[in-house]
This record gives sequence, C-alpha cells and structure tokens, in this order.
Amino acid sequence: MDREDEDKRQVEENDFIVTPWTVKGDVDYDKLIDQFGTSRITPEIIETFQRLTGEVHPFLRRRIFYSHRDLDDILRRYENGEQFFLYTGRGPSGGVHLGHLIPWIFTKYMQDKFGAELYFQMTDDEKYFTTDRLPLEKTYELAMENTLDLIAIGFDPKKTFVFTDTGYMKTMYGIAAKVAKHTTLSTAKAVFGFENSTGIGMIFFPAVQAATCFLPSVLKGYNIPCLIPAAIDQDPYWRGIAREVAPKLGFYKPAQVHSKFIPGLGQGGKMSASEPETAIFTTDSPEVVEKKVKSSFTGGRDTQIEQRLLGGRADICPVYHYYFFLFELDDRELEKIYDDCVGGQLLCGDCKMMLASRVRRFIKNHQEKRKAAKDHLDEFIIEDVSGGLVKRSETKQR
Ligand code: TYM
Repeated sequence: MDREDEDKRQVEENDFIVTPWTVKGDVDYDKLIDQFGTSRITPEIIETFQRLTGEVHPFLRRRIFYSHRDLDDILRRYENGEQFFLYTGRGPSGGVHLGHLIPWIFTKYMQDKFGAELYFQMTDDEKYFTTDRLPLEKTYELAMENTLDLIAIGFDPKKTFVFTDTGYMKTMYGIAAKVAKHTTLSTAKAVFGFENSTGIGMIFFPAVQAATCFLPSVLKGYNIPCLIPAAIDQDPYWRGIAREVAPKLGFYKPAQVHSKFIPGLGQGGKMSASEPETAIFTTDSPEVVEKKVKSSFTGGRDTQIEQRLLGGRADICPVYHYYFFLFELDDRELEKIYDDCVGGQLLCGDCKMMLASRVRRFIKNHQEKRKAAKDHLDEFIIEDVSGGLVKRSETKQR
C-alpha cells in the first residue's frame, strides 16, 4: 500500500489524519491529545502566563494553542531564574501562507515577553527529499524568501538565529549523528510510517529536525531548556525522536506548545500550500486576496430567506474561523459576529466583505515589512563557522 492509499485508509478509519506531511479530514483535537499523549493547556498555565507577562495572548485564551508537553515545567524553571530558548521552523516548499504565521506570531510574543532566543530551522533538505518538483537550489532560495516573512513578524535580530540545513550542516551534523545513533529504523517506521520505498535522506532527516532541540546547549556548553511552538502536526519529531534520545545524550527533553490548524478556504482541511487556491499567501496581491475570500466556502444556507430563518453555521465556516484565529482579536466583537451569524442577522456576503478588507489590510502591512526585511536578511542568517553563532552580517564586515 503506498503512502496515499495508507492516508486514505486512515482517514476512512479515523475520520482524519495528522502527520508532519499530511493533514486531512475533520481533525478531532481532543482525540489527538489522547492519541499523541500530550496535555491540555490548563487554567493554571493561563494564570501563570498572566502572572509572568501581565497578559494572555489571544491564541492561548482562545486555545488556538491548546496542547503542550512540559510547558508548565518551562514556566516553572523560568520563574526560578532558568532561561529557555525557542525553536521553530519551516519546510521551504513554496510561499508562506497565513497558517505558517500562526506559530511565528506566537513565538514572537514568547520572545518579547520572556526575552528568549529563537533558533529557526529552514529544512531545505526535507523539502528537496519530499517534493519531486523542487531542486535543492530552489528550496534554499525559497528558504531565503520565507526568511523575509519571518523577519516581517518583527523578531529581534540580536536574539534570532536562522539557518538552512544545507547551509549549517557542519555544525549540525555532529548532533544529528548522535540523535541518529540512538534511533532505530523500526522506531522511525513506527513514528513516521516510512517504507522500503522511502529515500534514505528522508530516513535520516528526523535526526536533523530533532538535533536543533540540542543545538544551543551544544554551542554554549551548558544545558538550556527548549520550547517549541508549532502546530500539532510536528509532534512526531518530538514525541518519537527528540524526547526519546534527550536523556540518553544528557539533554533536557524539549517542551512543546501545540496549535490547531487555520482552515483552508474550501470545505474542511487545513490551509495548505499544496492547495494554493484555498490558501492565502503573504505575497498574494490585494485583488487575489479579495477574490479568494469572496469565493470561500461558508457555513451559510442555500438562500437568504433560509439564512435569516435558520441562521448560519459559524462552527463549520472558514470565514468565521479567520476572525477567530487572526482577524478579530476583541472577544466581545468576535462573539457578536458569531451570534449575528447563527442568529441569521449577518449574511455571508457582508461577512466575507468585512473579512476581505481586514485580510487585505493585514497582507498589505505584512508586505511592506517583508520588503523592508530584504535589507536585514544577513542580520538573521547564521554562518556555518566553528563554535558559532556568527551572523552573515558580521562575516561580511570582516
Ligand atoms: P511547515 O513548513 O510544514 O510548517 C511551518 C509551520 O507552520 C505550521 N502550520 C500551520 N499552523 C497553523 N495552521 C496551518 N494551517 C498550518 N500549516 C502549517 C507547522 O506546524 C509549522 O510549525 N518540518 C517542518 C519545518 C521545521 C519545524 C521545526 C517546524 C523544522 N523544525 C520546528 C516547527 C518546529 C515543516 O515542514 O514545517
């Protein structure tokens, strides 16, 4: 059975599937917590954020970030004076869409509030292995393009270190080799579903993604706790590999905070670059944004009369979810949109029009920052020199 057939079988059996490469069906987030063995974000964790940072990010309050491993431990250590670092990443297979921005916006909030360093991995090798249409040179190029989006989010250049796997492998290889030594093929098969037809590059790759969890500890020579904000699709790398090998290598187990997926503009499924017509990319023109939002699937009824009578179905509506995730941060205003929708007062056309103008504004603002980021790329990318956290901008000055 090939990968696609296996995915189909799992969707039929389970109603959904979530792996680092495939998210399909109607994801049951509670079930995922049980399947993956993670923990819910509790009111106690929310209170700790309130106490430590003076505010609770809407992503936490709304449980967009809803699950974790050892986040409580990270916060406890921080309160006791032990600083953690942040780790997240991107597989550069194309443009960045709104979904990718969710973990990055949250990571920026964490950097601002906790003063934490961020290590950001661009897995140009992974996307070369998994995508037939992309030469390795192209995934590297896309990694640089995607870094502009990352910079546009506003990370602190002094505390942010971005690298591509191919560009930083001299430093990474020793750590990845140690991770690989403690990971068997049968574990990798069980965690990722690898088969005999899987290329050996991809079979080694999980060691590379896991290695970054330990990179700062190796570079600085002492153990530093790691917190990974990402959507829950990336969890297998931590659950199956990094957390298993950490104690064997003498490192802390990396902690995670997991988000849900912003949906695509179609019916069901996450926003995904592999379905470009249902994703809003940061490089889309205002006209394209407008067109995409206006042709979005909704939870509306067939006719205006039915809609007025029965109300819309906000819970299954991507348009409502965009307000929920990114475009209405005021809880009371969000509640009003929800109530007006299900009460039949707000019709889909008006709701889409209001959203389209907000998304256009957001993208325009992002694009201005993205353009300005071109002059700052070298302040974020680290060079593969021994011992080091040396930025490209520093080596150019020498
Ligand atoms: P990639 O490029 O598939 O995704 C980048 C980040 O975006 C998240 N994500 C989403 N979040 C919310 N809604 C969505 N619709 C959505 N789609 C994607 C992903 O969870 C991820 O956080 N192998 C990785 C790159 C990587 C990485 C990491 C990611 C290397 N190290 C550490 C997170 C943490 C990848 O291909 O991500």
